[in-house]
Amino acid sequence: YKEVIRVEDITGFRSRSEEFFPLHWFRKMLSEQPVYYHEDTDTWNVFRYDDVKQVLSNHEYFSAEGTRTTIAVGAKNNEGTPPDKLNISSIDPPRHQKSRSLLSAAFTPRSLKNWEPRIRNIAQQLVAEIEPNTTIDIVQALATPLPSMVMADLLGIPLTDSHRFKNWVDILFQPINPKTAEESELKKQTAAQEYYQFLYPIVVHKRTHPGEDIITDLLNVDVEGEKFTEDEVVRTTMLLLGAGIETTSHMVSNTFYSFLYDDPSLYGQLRQNPEWVPLAVEEMLRYRFHNAKRHRTVKQDNQLLGVDLKKGDVVISWMSAANMDEQMFEDPFELNIHRQNNKRHLTFGNGPHFCLGAPLARMELSIALTAFVEKIARIEPVESFDLENNLATSAPGQSLTHLPVKIVAE
Ligand code: HEM
Repeated sequence: YKEVIRVEDITGFRSRSEEFFPLHWFRKMLSEQPVYYHEDTDTWNVFRYDDVKQVLSNHEYFSAEGTRTTIAVGAKNNEGTPPDKLNISSIDPPRHQKSRSLLSAAFTPRSLKNWEPRIRNIAQQLVAEIEPNTTIDIVQALATPLPSMVMADLLGIPLTDSHRFKNWVDILFQPINPKTAEESELKKQTAAQEYYQFLYPIVVHKRTHPGEDIITDLLNVDVEGEKFTEDEVVRTTMLLLGAGIETTSHMVSNTFYSFLYDDPSLYGQLRQNPEWVPLAVEEMLRYRFHNAKRHRTVKQDNQLLGVDLKKGDVVISWMSAANMDEQMFEDPFELNIHRQNNKRHLTFGNGPHFCLGAPLARMELSIALTAFVEKIARIEPVESFDLENNLATSAPGQSLTHLPVKIVAE
């Protein structure tokens, strides 16, 4: 395994809530130390939009390969690891192209179109269960179940089994509490094994009984003679879950946090103007996905960032900070769903590794918010809510574990 860089050593945040919304630190780094060498971790860190974009996309100089990483992987056993040929996030072009093509089979525009009504059904079903005049936990009611139910459906898991699927996924992508890290790693490994044993026969069955689903698409892939075995398909679904579940959950709960605490008028505006929902989605991705960051390894000596970079140096691109760069976004520290260029945020990355699931993530978020504003007239925060005690470390940074929302009928 690669050496994991402890990013918290670089930021020096003093609380979970500071990490949850690190604008103060981003502002400081953007203006005072936009290209920052951190000695203890031996990393270069970049914050400005153009630098972040350059490091993510210029693969001639900045490689996704290397021996150090900022990503702590999920379950570390064989069942929880993607197949070798799909080492997608950590290889460079031209090799990367082939892995990406293998996986793209599952993300064609045609599939997106087919998925839309299925996602809408799931979102509406979740929203229908919400009672007026109650207080709900939006993390439990929507943010956690939505992405796993959507993935179960898109993979073609029989509906009767989807609760088992969801159970494993919840365990696999639960934010890790450092005090119980060892225990949760074991739980995750067991869940990965059970998931594998459950999914393998389903994949075998689909070889002879194809459906309109991602598993069938993956079984049909043929890129210059390269195909997936059943074992590889099972482990590929794990990669998709790893990339798409926590991130999307994080975005749904953060969006509701924003409705309650950043701009309490926004929810009402979206209810009046549901056509603004896609604008809100982009601005939330820019403004409320706080801790997006990626590492690269310097491939050839260069001065592209205005400092001497040597082959082998590690550079961390802070995408969420770049999203606050005033050279790119006007009044970047303001939440404004109507800003002209909000879609240019770097939350999904840039260049050859640009998030393959971005259209799916956008669609899920839009559909879920639309279903919500259609049904529920007004939401309010709960006074006793204490942010610091409702956060936990997850792959996307600090994620909400609970977020109480008062559902107010009108
Ligand atoms: C890559 C973010 C949802 C699948 C990436 C990268 C980022 C990202 C930043 C680029 C990594 C790099 O440059 O090294 C997000 C965010 C999401 C999200 C913020 C939700 C809000 C999804 C979903 C899926 C997905 C729903 C699929 C089910 C992937 C895959 C890659 C990727 C397969 C690797 C692409 C490559 O290396 O070529 N994602 N993602 N993501 N994402 Fe997403």
